[in-house]
Amino acid sequence: MPTTRHASAGILADQNAAKREEIVGLLTRAYWMEMETVMSYLAQSAYLDGIRAEEIAEALAADVTEELGHAKAFAGRIKDLYGTPPGTFDMVHEQASLQPGDPTDVVGVIRGVIEAEAGAIEHYNRIIEACDGVDWATQDMVIDILRDEENHLRTFERYLSEYE
Ligand SMILES: [Fe+2]
Ligand SMILES: [Fe+2]
Repeated sequence: MPTTRHASAGILADQNAAKREEIVGLLTRAYWMEMETVMSYLAQSAYLDGIRAEEIAEALAADVTEELGHAKAFAGRIKDLYGTPPGTFDMVHEQASLQPGDPTDVVGVIRGVIEAEAGAIEHYNRIIEACDGVDWATQDMVIDILRDEENHLRTFERYLSEYE
């Protein structure tokens, strides 16, 4: 179904079609990072075991909701940019260090979380830069999400220094 385009300025304008496509690609990758994080944190929060693990499991369970909110924001923005949020057949997997293994390996999980958050921070900085000057709304949205991920990273860095 062809869509009539009306915006004469900004990322929805015809003259920015190539840039829009680039940003939709970046947002699609961000969407998968969030969805994989939801699955990893959900599994780890359910599986972690032992007295030392309880606080980490609770923190991860709380983050599942927040990461799902990020995924929803990315999907919504993809749609607003004339894109299509991907289906499960296109799912990307890359969180090798968050596969459930030893349920008492709390430090291993903390390191996996730090790796995932650092990866998100790197990618979201890339999106923010790609949006500069042409897509202020995506940039604003991703800056908010970046702030959450930086908070997650710092929280788990503090956990790591306690556990080591
Ligand atoms: Fe997130
Ligand atoms: Fe996060």
